[in-house]
Amino acid sequence: MSKIKIYGGKYLSGTVKIHGSKNACLPIMCASLLNKGKATIGNVPKIADVYNLLNIFSYLNVSYIFVDDFLVIDSSKLIYKDLLIDEVLKFRASYYLIGVFLALFGKCKIYYPGGCKLGERPLDYHFEAFKAMGYNVNCNENLIEIDGKLKNEHINITLKGNSVGATINTVFAAIFSNATIYNYSLEPEVIDTLDFLGKLGFKIIKNRSIEIFASIPKRSVKYKIIPDRIEALTYIIMALLCGNIKLENVNLLHIDYPIRTLILNNADIIMYKNVLCCNKSKVVPFSFDADLYPKIPTDAQPLFSILFLFNNGSAIIGDKVFKNRFSAPLELVHLGARINTMDNKIITNHSVFVSGSVKASDLRACAALFLFAIASPTNTIINNYEIIERGYADFLRNLKNLGVKYEIIE
Ligand code: UD1
Repeated sequence: MSKIKIYGGKYLSGTVKIHGSKNACLPIMCASLLNKGKATIGNVPKIADVYNLLNIFSYLNVSYIFVDDFLVIDSSKLIYKDLLIDEVLKFRASYYLIGVFLALFGKCKIYYPGGCKLGERPLDYHFEAFKAMGYNVNCNENLIEIDGKLKNEHINITLKGNSVGATINTVFAAIFSNATIYNYSLEPEVIDTLDFLGKLGFKIIKNRSIEIFASIPKRSVKYKIIPDRIEALTYIIMALLCGNIKLENVNLLHIDYPIRTLILNNADIIMYKNVLCCNKSKVVPFSFDADLYPKIPTDAQPLFSILFLFNNGSAIIGDKVFKNRFSAPLELVHLGARINTMDNKIITNHSVFVSGSVKASDLRACAALFLFAIASPTNTIINNYEIIERGYADFLRNLKNLGVKYEIIE
């Protein structure tokens, strides 16, 4: 197991450039297969999930090359293969290949995708949508097998619940048809994927529903991915806890609600165009439920929990998307975190910590544990720290530049 020791409590200062969004990049890379041609994608974060997806691409005869932070993908020689390879198990977004394969080949056999364990993560909304299109879905806990025939008529689908993955996967599967998709997710990563598809030549109108008009894509496309709003929130909270950080390449619109809520609660944040300057602040903890966009995103909820543990006051935190996503703050109880639990919520209280070790269980929990270890004037060992590489490019390099003292133990 990977281990890092953080010598916390240092004052941090410096500049961080926010990378392209992981959760937009992965579906956009999958969408780039739909034209069986060339896609040049800018702002691609060099993270483990991107490399895992590229390994799957190589297996499918798709070639790629990085030129700086542009990724050029050539899918002209893409072939169908069953996706029964270990790479699929390493991250959640491999499920986007299902929609792409249904659109291109009308079938898909794939291991049940892996990814962060955030409690139950069923794919029933995806499967119901595929069935409504005319496909047969057979699935057990290890394997998904889909085949059958796409309906030869206008497809109407109402997604069973609000889901980033189900929205994008349904759009992919229906992309060569005339279709209307209701109850779709409005998260910025979904909109960015739809914008990429539009640039690729597919005719899509987003309104109260997503309207897809059967069309033929262009042979090549160039596109730049939106900045990662969760990465930005991670460094903003790091600054509020530990020093002053200037963030570049931020899309302020995508984090408007969380930023304004922080400012209302005494956070020193100055915004100008796509730059943010954040300074160490005594933030007043406030109660919230993580929720759909534009509210505080579930992926940032563990980060806010850590911020509140270092500030005076109590807050009640819930999560309407993943109801029990509290592994990071609860992991800190044995080091002094004063947390009460009640009915799928936690109550955070100002805490004083001792040195010790913790274990990261998922990507955002890992980021939250890093925030804790950096902010606490103690020494912390984080086990499994390399999970951070799944979603944060240049993370350790950024920490070093900001003044964090750490030592990789294993
Ligand atoms: C994506 C993000 C993840 C983020 C989440 C919510 C990627 C790769 N991951 O995950 O970082 O935390 O959006 O913003 O982009 N659900 C079902 N059945 C389904 C699908 C979803 O019950 O078929 C439930 C989920 O369990 C969850 C909620 O719907 O409670 C939202 O999940 P969803 O938006 O699908 O999350 P992901 O797309 O998996």
